[in-house]
Amino acid sequence: MTAAAPAGLTHEQIGALARAVSRAPSVHNSQPWQLLVRGTEVDLLERRDVELSRHDPRGRDRLLSCGAALTNLELAVRVLGRDCHVELHDDVVATVTIGRPRAASARDFALYRAIGRRRSHRHRFYHGRVPAAVHAALIAAGETTGVRVVAPGRLDRLAQLLGFATRVLREDRGYQRELDLWTAHTHGREAIGDGVPEDALSAEIPPAAGLVRRGTPVPDDVVLAERLAEENLLFLCTDGDTRADHLAAGAALQRVWLTATAKALVGSVLTQPLHLTGFRARLVSELALPGIPQAIFRFGYPAVPAAPSPRLPLGELFPDGPSGGLR
Ligand SMILES: Cc1cc2nc3c(=O)[nH]c(=O)nc-3n(C[C@H](O)[C@H](O)[C@H](O)COP(=O)(O)O)c2cc1C
Repeated sequence: MTAAAPAGLTHEQIGALARAVSRAPSVHNSQPWQLLVRGTEVDLLERRDVELSRHDPRGRDRLLSCGAALTNLELAVRVLGRDCHVELHDDVVATVTIGRPRAASARDFALYRAIGRRRSHRHRFYHGRVPAAVHAALIAAGETTGVRVVAPGRLDRLAQLLGFATRVLREDRGYQRELDLWTAHTHGREAIGDGVPEDALSAEIPPAAGLVRRGTPVPDDVVLAERLAEENLLFLCTDGDTRADHLAAGAALQRVWLTATAKALVGSVLTQPLHLTGFRARLVSELALPGIPQAIFRFGYPAVPAAPSPRLPLGELFPDGPSGGLR
């Protein structure tokens, strides 16, 4: 007797997967992903039409974003009580095959619940050390084959490099014009559900915690090193620099971020300086990093709350058109 094939997804279950994917972090909140549901297979597609030619000329952050969405998708499938098998591809980003019933672990539930609470927290943190065991749990959540997660030594050198990047990005008119486009339409009648809200980038944001704009103060290297020492930083590094590496780094970043959220921590991610020519190579040599840095995660306990950012309507996740009126 052969066992029955795994059941397809109900409309409600597809909605749960779509909501989880939609809440993933993405470069400039561009949400560069779509879902194609085919019975028990779900393709995660990369929206290559989302172009950030100044911030992300090679589409690296777009793939990191898809990697973060993949982590959310896998968690949502497991929390539905189904087995989940992921295959990475070059054309579609990944195919998630939904298998037979299987109880989700307590950890899956904890990370899934964190999906809706996670947000970019670009503010200063409340003073207070993060316990070593919590720090270690974040590192363990991100480390996987080909991905290393490390805290930087030599904050003086990091401050010098980030100070340099701030000066370059502030003066880069093309870069700033592109950033304006991604912050301009997030409020009022123009709002369509993507982009970075103006108040998520307020003037109180400490240097090297958000996105450098024309008016961002240029930090003094010594002051910046002191500020960095008040934060907790992790670098996500990969062995290589291929599409698969970018996807893996994004998936790892989201596991770290959700683990932090589940442990009452908040944080934000920085990739902006990593796109400057030669910057990653300088970081590797100055900080003796164990691989190519793909993202920097800063975290701590919150001193103030941070607002959630908008999302596109759920129907836009489906290339075939709105899926049964999902919003
Ligand atoms: C690959 C990637 C790169 C990002 N780079 C930056 C960055 O350099 N600076 C920043 O402030 N936020 C950065 N972010 C955070 C996004 O702007 C943020 O996830 C998005 O606006 C959605 O907001 P949320 O995280 O609150 O849901 C990045 C996110 C991802 C996934």
